[in-house]
Amino acid sequence: MAGYCYPRLFAHRGGGALAPENTLAGIRLAARLGYRGVEVDVMLSQDGLPVLIHDESLARTTDGAGDVARTPLAELSRLDAGSRFHRAFAGEPLPRLEDALDCCARLGLTVNIEIKPAAGLAEETGRTVGGRVAAGEPGAVLLSSFSEAALAAARLIAPAVPRALLFEAVPPDWQGRLSGLDCLGLHCAARHLSPELAAALRAAGIPFACYTVNEAATAAGLFEAGAAALFTDRLDLFDPRNPDRC
Ligand code: G3P
Ligand code: MG
Repeated sequence: MAGYCYPRLFAHRGGGALAPENTLAGIRLAARLGYRGVEVDVMLSQDGLPVLIHDESLARTTDGAGDVARTPLAELSRLDAGSRFHRAFAGEPLPRLEDALDCCARLGLTVNIEIKPAAGLAEETGRTVGGRVAAGEPGAVLLSSFSEAALAAARLIAPAVPRALLFEAVPPDWQGRLSGLDCLGLHCAARHLSPELAAALRAAGIPFACYTVNEAATAAGLFEAGAAALFTDRLDLFDPRNPDRC
């Protein structure tokens, strides 16, 4: 597996709190503000095509109803994924993964694709996402997931694309789980990063990234503790132009 140069900051869900989540408008905004990395959530449509969305249900972020996994791509592509955030984003589409990848490539962004399988679709989602990124530019994509089954499936098809295992609270056997999937990094909820865990990660040489950090003081503490990167909604709060640590 190739290495990966973490950007110091990932714009969480595309454009953080400044744009509708998991949209191209959000990704473009992150780039305009100088962000070099974005994180997006990816799930499969009914016909097995990867799209950017966080929830299994369409209700919170789009004008659709029902579940992503029960809706074909043609229907998802007609939805408005912007109006629920603000009328200024009316008509913003729910993007396909390939549109997001093209957008990130054009803007020179690295993208952390969080594989977010709907229930029962872990392997299929990992396999499909892996297939879409297997032949990409080195460093363009970092895969992550809470689902070890999804990451394992992605690894089979895209072994060279770097992976990080995602936890809310990190279990005691994190090191075995990471090495079992040949993961390069560990991502976890910021509130669960104890000083002991940070020290163990540093000692093991495992880069770690924490979500979702929306306060400057918290960010400073996490960087001090050795975090390679943070995920933030507050794109306005941070200066993303700080030099990256590779
Ligand atoms: O990948 C980090 C973070 O996005 C995980 O939480 O629920 O915002 O996808 P969530
Ligand atoms: Mg996410």
